[in-house]
Amino acid sequence: MEYMEKINQIAELSIIIPTYNETANIIPIVEAINNALPQACWQIIFVDDDSPDGTAETIGRLAKRDSRIRLIHRIGRKGLSSAVIEGMMASTTEYVALMDADLQHDETLLPTMLDTLRSNNSDLIIASRYMETASTGELPIYRRSLSVAAIRLTELFLKTQLSDPMSGFFMIRKSLLERVVRQLYGRGFKLLLDIFSACSAKGISVRYLELPYTMRSRKFGDSKLDIGIGFDLLFLICYRYFLGVIPVHFFAFSLVGLLGVGVNMALLWFFLKVTTLEYTFAYVAALYITMTNNFLLNNQFTFRTQRLLGRRLIKGLFGFFAACSVGAIVSVGVSSLLFEKFNLPWWLAGLSGMLVSAFWNFASSSTFVWNSPDKKG
Ligand code: GDD
Ligand code: MN
Repeated sequence: MEYMEKINQIAELSIIIPTYNETANIIPIVEAINNALPQACWQIIFVDDDSPDGTAETIGRLAKRDSRIRLIHRIGRKGLSSAVIEGMMASTTEYVALMDADLQHDETLLPTMLDTLRSNNSDLIIASRYMETASTGELPIYRRSLSVAAIRLTELFLKTQLSDPMSGFFMIRKSLLERVVRQLYGRGFKLLLDIFSACSAKGISVRYLELPYTMRSRKFGDSKLDIGIGFDLLFLICYRYFLGVIPVHFFAFSLVGLLGVGVNMALLWFFLKVTTLEYTFAYVAALYITMTNNFLLNNQFTFRTQRLLGRRLIKGLFGFFAACSVGAIVSVGVSSLLFEKFNLPWWLAGLSGMLVSAFWNFASSSTFVWNSPDKKG
């Protein structure tokens, strides 16, 4: 037991910092945290998704000189929530914090957050931009209104009363996270909401506290948050509502498909009435343009966390054509079988055929087209 008696230096706080193209921010953020937490025993776990700008190398160089700095370097993976969850699960400290790498979050709040958790009156401390004395700093007006709209939406659906449910700056007791980690949705940007809604789904009432702060603006690098992030929120809400039984992405995929029917008809009309194309040619042209459009929409929204780019986009498009062609054959087969052999009414046979092909197209394209190793964003 000599070994057990000798060890005493244990970190009590892990700060998880997800990074994507943040090279210029690494040293400043570590320095800021180091200055803010002189008394506490902490470590930083960076989770980098193989940033092309060499962020991982910068962190690696620093980690050689400071053993409190750790790095999880993910290859072929992407996604903020999943990066953060992995970082948190790699930590073995009692408390875990989440921060942006870009110095937007006020690190001087960390000691108060830690002390509050230590005093054992709460399990989760959230730094909030929307409390009376707080401010969103120089957040552009559209981002602010988007954020406020999202807050209303979450109040409505997820029944949270948080002033800043989208906050990306909070500190949590690790044991609370461990109780719900298997129920997390794990995609997108909204981990805090994910945790809250998972807790409420399990009947756990969270002891939380909000602290106001002013968000700074970015000095180096660009924000990775775009309008599409709103879809992540909608997906999360649907996920909780359907309790994860039906794949939420199937709804998005079907919605795109439904829109495609309209696009296809409009194009067919255009080619026949406005141009003088022959029918078969017009039909094939309309069909392929529609499929390409559906592919791009699915790439942008439905499968945004596995989004294809560059050469993989072209390869994916042909894969999608192939998947849909097989889907069409399957659909013709099923629908004629139901109509001819089982004497179903024409509309029911037709509808069933379409549903089967929607399922087929969804299953095959999520397996063969958007099949990056990271299925969970
Ligand atoms: N590993 C990894 N993978 N890190 C990522 C990824 C990713 O796919 N995408 C973004 N990051 C990192 C960034 O490098 C940054 O450190 C942090 O995650 C947050 O990304 P930002 O691009 O700085 O987001 P933001 O400042 O626009 O958004 C902030 O406010 C949102 C609320 O409006 C963040 O705090 C969000 O978490 C928060 O939801
Ligand atoms: Mn940021």
